[in-house]
Amino acid sequence: MAKEVKNVEYGLEKIFEGAQDFLPLLGTDYVEFYVGNAKQSAHFYKTAFGFQSFAYAGLETGLKDRTSYVLKQDKIRIVLTTSLVSGSPISEHVNKHGDGVKVIALWVEDARKSWEETTKRGAKSFMEPTVEKDEHGEVVRAGIYTYGETVHMFVERKNYKGDFLPGFKKWESEYQPTAVGLKFIDHMVGNVGWGEMNTWVKWYEDVMGFVNFLSFDDKQITTEYSALMSKVMSNGNGRIKFPINEPAEGKKKSQIEEYIDFYEGPGVQHLALATDDIIKTVTELKARGVEFLPPPPQAYYDEIPTRLGVHRDMMKEDIQQLQKLSILVDADEDGYLLQIFTKPVEDRPTLFYEIIQRMGAKGFGAGNFKALFESIEREQAKRGTL
Ligand code: FE2
Repeated sequence: MAKEVKNVEYGLEKIFEGAQDFLPLLGTDYVEFYVGNAKQSAHFYKTAFGFQSFAYAGLETGLKDRTSYVLKQDKIRIVLTTSLVSGSPISEHVNKHGDGVKVIALWVEDARKSWEETTKRGAKSFMEPTVEKDEHGEVVRAGIYTYGETVHMFVERKNYKGDFLPGFKKWESEYQPTAVGLKFIDHMVGNVGWGEMNTWVKWYEDVMGFVNFLSFDDKQITTEYSALMSKVMSNGNGRIKFPINEPAEGKKKSQIEEYIDFYEGPGVQHLALATDDIIKTVTELKARGVEFLPPPPQAYYDEIPTRLGVHRDMMKEDIQQLQKLSILVDADEDGYLLQIFTKPVEDRPTLFYEIIQRMGAKGFGAGNFKALFESIEREQAKRGTL
């Protein structure tokens, strides 16, 4: 019996038993990238991904050493930060890793308590609780390190009425390409080194109170040539989901190992951005020059009705249209999902994006892993890194 499915967006209720309550998270606040040229990156995210100019900090606002552009699309906020001087932590980060995610900021009720609870459980501090003020009120932020040089910043903004953070001014721009329908961050994936996945799974359990609600071993995520392992960590209300990957032995090099080699350490592999009309969003992204992985072979699309099982009758999308756009389809017991992956968005084969539309399904497209990884391997072969 087919049941009705709808887009999934989690509320604040606790849905994962076993998750600890010492670190209540309201959602993702922002994601900050350290990049070589924030002005040009901002142009790329506006033009190609449909983000809107939102806030700015730099020389004109009194900063001497860096510039940050804040862009927004629905609930998604990204910050692009570049250094104006050599030898700073930002320029050192870019020098080592290339452009990449530095901060995954989490929206909390109480940033001091979040920092205290996590550091007393073993987190390494990045920034002690700090109050920032302007005429709109105050924000408290505090940060801890997670894998590699990546940071979780806790952001408490209940006493703040401004747009973003103290120190930022509204970014007025005459150039505002339209949005492409991206709504919120569905999940963010970290790549860690050989044998380190379980260490970080335990870290998210012990330090952040998360639960491991899905696991994939190297038998499930394997192709003829390469393999990886993955465990999905979630906070109690399901709003924050961090899958963690590590490479596994295969005949050839794992894509996770390729990432670690080029990023020179663990880091964020991809951000999955949710839409409620993937056909429209992907058509628009392609028209604006976003490059996606090529589609899997015909046999993949022939098997879609079988893969959908009981959800077959509910799928409204036309399979031929999905194939034309190289969108992938998977189903689990709760419904189905549609997803697609971009090529890396910088010259190092590191960070990429996933566009996802969940029609009830809560999984991560396990049924697509093989087809996806074969596409990635074809790209790795071109780079000489398979
Ligand atoms: Fe994903």
